[in-house]
Amino acid sequence: MRTEDLIHFCAPGRLIIGNGSRHQLPQLLARLGYRSGVLVTDAFFAEKTPWVKEYTEAAERLGISTIIYAGGLPDPTTGLCDEATAVLRDQLAGKQPDHVIALGGGSNIDLAKALTLTLPQGRPIAEFAGDIGGCRPLPLIALPTTSGTGSEATPGAILLDPANATKIAVMDNALRPQIALIDPEFTYTCPPRVTADAGIDAFTHAIESFLTLDSALFERAGNPDPGYSGRSPLTMLFARESMRLCFAWMERAYQQGDDTEARVGMAYASIYAALSYGTAGLNAGHGIAYAVAGQTH
Ligand SMILES: NC(=O)c1ccc[n+]([C@@H]2O[C@H](COP(=O)([O-])OP(=O)(O)OC[C@H]3O[C@@H](n4cnc5c(N)ncnc54)[C@H](O)[C@@H]3O)[C@@H](O)[C@H]2O)c1
Repeated sequence: MRTEDLIHFCAPGRLIIGNGSRHQLPQLLARLGYRSGVLVTDAFFAEKTPWVKEYTEAAERLGISTIIYAGGLPDPTTGLCDEATAVLRDQLAGKQPDHVIALGGGSNIDLAKALTLTLPQGRPIAEFAGDIGGCRPLPLIALPTTSGTGSEATPGAILLDPANATKIAVMDNALRPQIALIDPEFTYTCPPRVTADAGIDAFTHAIESFLTLDSALFERAGNPDPGYSGRSPLTMLFARESMRLCFAWMERAYQQGDDTEARVGMAYASIYAALSYGTAGLNAGHGIAYAVAGQTH
């Protein structure tokens, strides 16, 4: 504890973690009153795993209908988001969905996050960059399949803007998922390269947020609801544990993808890093990376 700290801690509305926890989702959504959803994913999950069918059939039995969008791509662009908005609005034929589900890595989660803003009125996502202007996004349910980005807990969607070859962030606390459901079994199919890239992402989130400005010094620019607001003992507690878990499990998850203990360890490392940086914010590494990634992917 430090007497000068000013903590404004934000997290997803519900956090569910556990092997096999995906099977609880249809009943939970039915109980929360959801009836009509859009599920955003990519071709791998739609065609090569049973998860999409398993979910939609179980949800259907409980009276929840779901439209599937399987056009997600790594590092989604603003153009992809606008295209997905048009395709989905066409399929919805004037009906408003009451939730959006994201299944995939950070790319699919960010695309789905952006769609929670664009689906209601069909506006281009670029109009929301920097400030969502008081717009109420649709509730988002995030099911991460990589242990890395932590997008299931953060207030931002990162999209590539091909017009100026950089990544843009659409940010607001209203964009944090209502439900982050982390089923480590989703990550068992992750190839080694994706496991390593994602694991290093989580580790970097933990380090950068551990070293960022103190909450008492963080410039909030008069914002009463800042997305990021500096490090505090609360965020540092998650960052420290995340770094420890990365040390313990990252290499094993990479070397032996079927090591369930290592996969679960990295799932915790990733969400703990997100619970740190999702409030504290990051540091120069990510600032530079946004510009570089726009040029190099
Ligand atoms: N919004 C945020 O807070 C935030 C934070 C960090 C990164 N990001 C964004 O996340 C994106 C990177 O996400 P990522 O690292 O999770 O990778 P990704 O979502 O881009 O996925 C990379 C590839 O791995 C595949 N894949 C993912 N999970 C798999 C699984 N379980 N089995 C088999 N294949 C799988 C995907 O289909 C894809 O082809 C970047 O666009 C980055 O900007 C967002």
